[in-house]
Amino acid sequence: MRIDIITVLPELLHSPLQHSIMKRAQERGLLEVCIEDLRAYGLGKHKQVDDYQYGGGAGMVMMIEPLSNCVETLKAQRTYQEIIYLTPDGVRLNQSICNQLSLKENLLLICGHYKGIDERVREKYVTLEISIGDYVLSGGELAAAVLVDSIGRLLPGVLNDETSALFDSFQDNLLAPPVYTRPVEFKGQKVPDILLSGNFSAIEEWRYEQALQRTQQRRPDLLAE
Ligand code: ADE
Repeated sequence: MRIDIITVLPELLHSPLQHSIMKRAQERGLLEVCIEDLRAYGLGKHKQVDDYQYGGGAGMVMMIEPLSNCVETLKAQRTYQEIIYLTPDGVRLNQSICNQLSLKENLLLICGHYKGIDERVREKYVTLEISIGDYVLSGGELAAAVLVDSIGRLLPGVLNDETSALFDSFQDNLLAPPVYTRPVEFKGQKVPDILLSGNFSAIEEWRYEQALQRTQQRRPDLLAE
């Protein structure tokens, strides 16, 4: 899978996507993340990418021309199954959207800044608008990093244990059960006996019960779905 990201702050995206599982995904050639600096498409001597909004009001708006030139340049090179704009007024990201997006070949992400992007870019190019939660970030870059990470780890071959993503929280609308590692006892706190029993079907059942209980307590809305 290839993901292109249009941004005015490329540095903000470099580090989060160069460690751990995202690093492995790219090293294994399973995920290619290409960061496109919108400034290169900026207008005039100062490479301007934003301007005052029509109708007045505080805050700058990202101009249509640099964005359009950038998107057209990328679109001429490959076909994108989705052109995604990260915005607080988009559809709220969840595991099901991540699963669906992980099946695509090419995605193009657009990171907004300031007051956002000229509406005409959304009308003309954007096929999907995603929010990572009901709060406002300074720009779309951190949201894009969240999206790439949540999709990238689902690509076959990225996680060492192929099954492990299947048992993530949310994959079956359940939160994950509690987990433990050595030592068996630490300052009076013990690992539940069942996990030491070697009885794998009983352990599976226990995990399922724990997941169910945790979901009922913390996120009953997931069970209602
Ligand atoms: N840009 C600013 N806030 C955002 C959010 N919550 N989700 C996605 N993109 C954003």
